Amino acid sequence: MTLDRKEPLLKVEGLSKHFKISSTETLKAVENVSFEVYKGEVVGVVGESGCGKSTLGRCLLRLYEPTAGTIYYNGADISRIKSKTEKREFCKNVQMIFQNPYASLNPRMTVKEIVGEGIKLHQKCPAKELDLKVLELLKKVGMNKDHMSRFSHEFSGGQKQRIGIARALSVGPKLIVCDEPISALDVSIQAQVINMLKKLQEEMELTYLFVAHDLSVVKYISDRVIVMYLGMIVEIGETEELYAHPRHPYTEAMLSAIPIADPAKSRNQKSIPIKGEVPSPINPPQACRFAERCHKAQEICFKKIPELVESTKGHCVACHFPNE
Ligand SMILES: Nc1ncnc2c1ncn2[C@@H]1O[C@H](COP(=O)(O)OP(=O)(O)O)[C@@H](O)[C@H]1O
Ligand SMILES: [Mg+2]
Repeated sequence: MTLDRKEPLLKVEGLSKHFKISSTETLKAVENVSFEVYKGEVVGVVGESGCGKSTLGRCLLRLYEPTAGTIYYNGADISRIKSKTEKREFCKNVQMIFQNPYASLNPRMTVKEIVGEGIKLHQKCPAKELDLKVLELLKKVGMNKDHMSRFSHEFSGGQKQRIGIARALSVGPKLIVCDEPISALDVSIQAQVINMLKKLQEEMELTYLFVAHDLSVVKYISDRVIVMYLGMIVEIGETEELYAHPRHPYTEAMLSAIPIADPAKSRNQKSIPIKGEVPSPINPPQACRFAERCHKAQEICFKKIPELVESTKGHCVACHFPNE
């Protein structure tokens, strides 16, 4: 499928999500995030644990009410929809695959009930065709008829995640937020699941926002990558361009930490250390949130928020001293 980058399927403008955690403290989980996702695209979102990836995903699905900002789906503002019918229509189009398949499936429901629930709710087919529809979905994710009447707790982690994927697909979504869909799985089955997700995306012409905490996973599946640090976007770029020429010191440091299999290349790899720990999102730095850990930081970095600006085509960076 050729990508049409004219009309975004999803457009996020100035999205923030703050959690009030006490009478005096506010945790700023996502701060002023803007980006676009085009139809048929896979956009990776990477950043260390706690940087706001899941919160962002939950805001996009309207599982969280955003504190500020606007979300457009197919040109329509969906950030403030309140009516049940509008919400239901939106849920049909945008689905989520969760990080933890153990927690996201009801252990007392059969596979048929789990996968069939959404179909029934959205009346996608007559009752007598439900079994066939569920079976068709199960086959898509590499499962079979014998699995239908079994309970989700009887399955392995990988199979549970397959059921979760079938459930997400059941309502015929256009956009799927995949929130670290392989992080909780055994290393031995991670590749199978990610390959399956990629195949489904191509076959069904789906659009993914693919969240992961490390850059090596998203490289394989993404057309473009968004790098987040402490609730903010620090860099966005085409995958190849971003990996070859990271412009933000944080992206560069993350990339330098990925082990290289080839020993000859590995010897030349220079590792860029990141100083200290990630600061708390409760009182995050006022200017550049990465400044206190950055080897390039100068006075301005502690005074002024760097804006996310486009350098070369489609490559955006939020840094006062980006790499050339
Ligand atoms: N419901 C919540 N209430 C309060 N704080 C939250 C809530 N959800 C997430 N957070 C906080 O928001 C920050 C971002 O969390 P999260 O979006 O889960 O990050 P990630 O998915 O990147 O690991 C973390 O500091 C986390 O503790
Ligand atoms: Mg998360």
